[in-house]
Amino acid sequence: MTTPSPEFITLHGQRSSLVLELVPGEAPLWRHWGARLPDGIDPGAALRDTRALPTFALDQDLPLTVAPVFGTGWFGQSALLAHREGRDFAQGWTGCTVEWTAPGRALTLHLSDAVARLRLDLSIALDADSDVLVLCSTLHNDGDTALDLQWLAAGTLPLPGRCDAVRSFAGQHVHEFLPQTDPLTRSLWRRESRRGRTSHDCFPGAVVTTPGATAQTGRVFGAHLAWSGNHQQTIEWLHDGQYQWQFGEWLAPGEGRLAPGASLTTPELVASCSDEGLDGLAANFHAELRRRLDWPGGAMRPRPVHLNTWEGVYFDVHPGPVKEMATAAAALGIERFVLDDGWFHGRHHDRAALGDWWPDAHKFPDGLSGLIAHVNALGMEFGLWVEPEMVSPDSELFRAHPDWALQIAGRPLLTARNQLVLDIARPEASDYLFEKIAALLAAHPIRYLKWDLNRDLAPAGLGDGRAGYRAQVLAAYALMARLRTAFPEVEIESCSGGGGRIDFGVLRHAHRVWTSDCIDALSRVEMQHGFLQFFPPEIMGAHVGTAPAHTTGRTQAMAFRAAVALAGHFGVELDPRQLSTEDADELRGWIALHKRLRDRLHHGRVWRGEAGDGLHWQFHADADTADGVLIVLRTRPSDHRQPPALRLPMLDVAARYRVRELRPAGSPRREGRHHTAPFFDAQDSAEGVTLAGAWLAEVGLPMLRAPAETAFIARIERV
Ligand code: DGJ
Repeated sequence: MTTPSPEFITLHGQRSSLVLELVPGEAPLWRHWGARLPDGIDPGAALRDTRALPTFALDQDLPLTVAPVFGTGWFGQSALLAHREGRDFAQGWTGCTVEWTAPGRALTLHLSDAVARLRLDLSIALDADSDVLVLCSTLHNDGDTALDLQWLAAGTLPLPGRCDAVRSFAGQHVHEFLPQTDPLTRSLWRRESRRGRTSHDCFPGAVVTTPGATAQTGRVFGAHLAWSGNHQQTIEWLHDGQYQWQFGEWLAPGEGRLAPGASLTTPELVASCSDEGLDGLAANFHAELRRRLDWPGGAMRPRPVHLNTWEGVYFDVHPGPVKEMATAAAALGIERFVLDDGWFHGRHHDRAALGDWWPDAHKFPDGLSGLIAHVNALGMEFGLWVEPEMVSPDSELFRAHPDWALQIAGRPLLTARNQLVLDIARPEASDYLFEKIAALLAAHPIRYLKWDLNRDLAPAGLGDGRAGYRAQVLAAYALMARLRTAFPEVEIESCSGGGGRIDFGVLRHAHRVWTSDCIDALSRVEMQHGFLQFFPPEIMGAHVGTAPAHTTGRTQAMAFRAAVALAGHFGVELDPRQLSTEDADELRGWIALHKRLRDRLHHGRVWRGEAGDGLHWQFHADADTADGVLIVLRTRPSDHRQPPALRLPMLDVAARYRVRELRPAGSPRREGRHHTAPFFDAQDSAEGVTLAGAWLAEVGLPMLRAPAETAFIARIERV
């Protein structure tokens, strides 16, 4: 007997759709997440009517639901693991009501379990413009005893069985976004992080590909947890040939204990799919993040070029030399001067002082006013480094409040970089931090905080002996929000020993991230490529560092260092007083070029490619490629006597394009017949050369014979 008139819920984006099947007394079944279906299309039949029961299976067919749970006889990973002192261990939804929060776009499913006395509110929203799906779960304990929650997925997504690989990121300090590809098989794929922060080594996101998917073509799926703490994701093969993908916060024992009447809300799961390969997916994530960023004044202004003092002088910050640095920075065209670590009470090295957030009286006897006035008089904004969530054992704060550090009574305090983590979930600790930072912001025109976090949480024991990983993240967000409310004109950079806290969660409060402490341009090529999969270029801190690079010892020419940083939120991290006249002139030219291009680089789409033979490229353009900037980076010498042309598959094959090489003023000309050709000389003129889009897309743009670690930059405009 077939199910009479099954009911479906459909959400449509521009290029993707989602279909759920409502079943009375159960959680809705997943029917589709993928390609955009025509309006009005539905599955035509209830899922259970379309498939037979396997032999020796439970007599009730159990397809994948939006919240599969253990107690229904679901043998896959459960979206919920919980119990009450060992009881109510097997939940099963007994009711579901649908509440449309934005008709056709967003809804909340109210699931209830009358037996275990739980409710789950699962919100699902598909953004019609970006095709980004956001899921979030809130579990309510309606029972009269405590519920111990071990796992609650923010969302459970279906993936078609033809998916064959998952790309995620590994890494470490100074090597973030290390790409890693695993085949999808019948074995469970799982990644989890218990470091208490987003982490360098396990980015909370992944991309699942189908066979043949490339950077620009093919179906791909992506998901990211908007959270700066512990996380877990699993992809599991199911017996009907598809996969389920669950993503949520990894809860330490006890963190999910819900008193009667209490509830827990997961971080948001941000997901999307695209038929335009990895770059199509990236465009969706970029659009979603741009929608979320909360800019002072309501809109992003051109990203000011930075000078960050860290690698220039490290802890050795004294007003005289720092003022000289500022003067030299302004002469380069720098717009924001950021005083990094080393400015506060007793901070002469990394073994002391975190927590004592007032200017060091020996270094700055008159406080920061003189320096800030000097910076402002040069036409630059002033930014300041802080690391609020930390405390040094050798600090006035720790001596006064040793109990404010996260710790477990009876166990040793575990330091990292000689520091401990402050329990900022204590109101008195976060009030202290607010007062100290607010005092600085109120007293000075500080427009920017570089907010650092230089260690993992271990062990995150709260004062009452319970685990505080989750509390710590929520308290950090609350402190950032409180400061932003009090000082709405201040921007925040999320730094965590480089890229240890880069996620959509912290980016509700922050406006830039420090991608990595490694500024070696060659290393940055791969890291930035990975970064751009989820995050747009305008928030990607990208600096020109010294040569040799401090973290690798490798030396690259100024042009290569600047070209690699060009597309990001551009900055300089060296002592500008030490630059030779030639280097200073060249850098000034690159800064001017960046300023000329940043509007183009920081809006619209990014296409990324590896053409083989050591060539990496990026194209930043509006969505229909009418106007773009091409950055080609050669990371190693060509294997060819004459390098192959570079195909630009995203260009419109029906259009013609003008290609003009862009070179900063004063950059040395190419010399010698091995490195020049009339075609390139023609490009390097105001008119450039005009070529058919079809030619550029199919055959390619001729590439010059160029040495390793050089760049080629061009404006490509439709004519
Ligand atoms: C780690 C950051 O990533 C660096 O940029 C710098 O701010 C140092 N911390 C300062 O201690």
